[in-house]
Amino acid sequence: MDGHVGELPGTSEEPAKLRLKQLSPPGPERSISEVIDGLGLWERPTAATGRPRVLVNMVATVDGRATLSGRSGPISGPADRALFHGLRAAVDGVLVGAGTVRTERYGRMIADQSTRRLRLQRGLTEEPLACIVSGRLAIEEDLPLLGEPSAHVVLLTSSHASLPVSRAKLDYIRAQSEGRLDLTAAVSELRERFGVQSLLCEGGPHLCAQLLAAGLVDELFLSLSPLLAGGEPAAGGGEALRILAGTELQTPAELELLGVLRSDSYLFLHYGLAS
Ligand SMILES: NC(=O)c1ccc[n+]([C@@H]2O[C@H](COP(=O)([O-])OP(=O)(O)OC[C@H]3O[C@@H](n4cnc5c(N)ncnc54)[C@H](OP(=O)(O)O)[C@@H]3O)[C@@H](O)[C@H]2O)c1
Repeated sequence: MDGHVGELPGTSEEPAKLRLKQLSPPGPERSISEVIDGLGLWERPTAATGRPRVLVNMVATVDGRATLSGRSGPISGPADRALFHGLRAAVDGVLVGAGTVRTERYGRMIADQSTRRLRLQRGLTEEPLACIVSGRLAIEEDLPLLGEPSAHVVLLTSSHASLPVSRAKLDYIRAQSEGRLDLTAAVSELRERFGVQSLLCEGGPHLCAQLLAAGLVDELFLSLSPLLAGGEPAAGGGEALRILAGTELQTPAELELLGVLRSDSYLFLHYGLAS
């Protein structure tokens, strides 16, 4: 597995020499660990509303493509992968759409043992809760994540069905409004039932657009890869997905730039959602 969402911890620990130039606000070069420490995630602050603090992390080409040949991996680079794992290591829960889980064949959240130890030392669970959003619950039984005895998976779904018993621990959130999954209620339930105070959404584009439309996103981490790909975003996804798909926002979400980092020709943009 390669890629932004596909390459899971243990396969890409932070490269020892990887340093990011801090362009804005101007500052010294920093390692990924220093970048993550600077975000204050370990202190686990929640959003003002009492729901978890929700961070979205995506990677795109300079012309906005979120996939190449149907995967995010070809867009990703070493620093992006390290940031992906660094963010994942510092949160209580990882939220992801079933489309991404299926395409990227999600596995164990944190494979690296030293990262798991660090989490425990810092008062977090050994691995973040794996939170999958699905309507149809059409998730392959042989998904590596479901075969992982240490994994705790929560399915956020409008379906009344359940997955077959798996080696992973499974729970369900079935918050509904008019037969559809109520994302706002479901995200709040993650906090109430499972103590999730920081939630990292790893995509995909359809889920991200809905979270934004529901006003559930606090921050966006966008890695811009030095690539141009062209192509037309097709209805319903297709080849040329951008980082948001499906749901059109009634008014564009306004972003506030919080920081810019650089590694080679890759840019790492950190935005807050203007309230
Ligand atoms: N560039 C990046 O940073 C990045 C990040 C992540 C993913 N990707 C790429 O994006 C592609 C997948 O994108 P995607 O947008 O199609 O997938 P997605 O957003 O991960 O998943 C869509 C699926 O999530 C479920 N879902 C979403 N909203 C729901 C709701 N309100 N209620 C119930 N279920 C809901 C549905 O699952 P069911 O079908 O099970 O009902 C839906 O089919 C992959 O190619 C992946 O590689 C790129």
